[in-house]
Amino acid sequence: MSDIVTVVAPVNIAVIKYWGKRDEDLILPLNDSVSGTLDTSIMCAKTSVCARPEFEEDEIWLNGKKESFSSPRVKNCLKEIKARAAAEKCVSDEFLQWKVHVCSENNFPTAAGLASSAAGYACLVTALAKLYKVKSNVSSIARLGSGSACRSVYGGFVRWHAGTSADGSDSIATQIVESTHWPEMRALILVVGDTKKKTSSTIGMKISAQTSELLQHRIKHCVPQRTEEIIEAIKSKDFPKFAEITMKDSNQCHAVCLDSYPPFFYMTEVSHMIIELIHKYNELYGTKVAYTFDAGPNACLYLLESEVPKVISLIKHAFPSSNPDSFITGLKSDEEVLDPKLSSVQPHAKDLIKYVIHTKVGEGPTEVTDGSHLINDKGLPK
Ligand code: DP6
Repeated sequence: MSDIVTVVAPVNIAVIKYWGKRDEDLILPLNDSVSGTLDTSIMCAKTSVCARPEFEEDEIWLNGKKESFSSPRVKNCLKEIKARAAAEKCVSDEFLQWKVHVCSENNFPTAAGLASSAAGYACLVTALAKLYKVKSNVSSIARLGSGSACRSVYGGFVRWHAGTSADGSDSIATQIVESTHWPEMRALILVVGDTKKKTSSTIGMKISAQTSELLQHRIKHCVPQRTEEIIEAIKSKDFPKFAEITMKDSNQCHAVCLDSYPPFFYMTEVSHMIIELIHKYNELYGTKVAYTFDAGPNACLYLLESEVPKVISLIKHAFPSSNPDSFITGLKSDEEVLDPKLSSVQPHAKDLIKYVIHTKVGEGPTEVTDGSHLINDKGLPK
């Protein structure tokens, strides 16, 4: 039997955004957040880990490139998993002394600028937990890698409770509903071309926490109520309510970035064009599509399966592509015909959206059992 453990873990896209920390080192947030976990067959991180007595150092390779293991976030995750394993007495002390090799990659282009750290850390921590036979939940350890990673430990819809304790013991994620609860839920990721260097979310939320009055208002007066309402909307499958809260929360999060001093911006003109287009669609048909934006210009649209052909036809019409054959991934699409009601929409210039990923809400991390490890028998990347 192989001593290599391999896990795939999902990306998650928040509908109530995590923005701002109350503790930078423990990565404790100022507010609760809620997200949908996306299907790993379309987008995922894959990580292989193994520990052996002959390894001289802890080593890590990301997307085929050797990286330094000195990142405090990676080191913290390994340290905490080992501490849990020791406390749970799951493996021998000797095994805990051995150095570990980690190999990780994403199955989606990193150039897409999509939240890959959440999938990456959820994957790393789940793989290490399996290697060291840790039984207890590892969401709070994934949080030490990247805050949003604690939500990728579950499938379906997930809530990250901000918690109040100083040691972070109550800052954990819990599942709201499984992925099978709302099986019609789909996501379209609209990848927008952008080369500008962005303020990282870690830096951005630090500036906001120090300077934005709107963030303080948001934490106290908006997020608590929105969180309860969106959980209710998810449980009762009330799409219009779910969509309205999702859009308002994304808009507020980006308003906080503008309210920060100095301000910084993630959405571009193209992001704004997408927002306008979705509102136009919703005015015509009722609230059928929600947009949300993370720390970048790409949009994530949440919508129900029945709406997908019509929305795809609109996106193709409004954002024409030079490569129509490879424009949509993850969907065996028939030729969608544009609804005549939408024909008054004027097409924008070509290639403002690079491509579109069609996916759905899916399961949490899973162990890969078909032997397709990223590490070879010698303990090195394949
Ligand atoms: C805008 O989890 O990447 O995507 O905890 O500093 O690693 P760190 O930040 P990260 O922030 C994600 C911010 C967001 C909103 C969200 O996912 O809730």
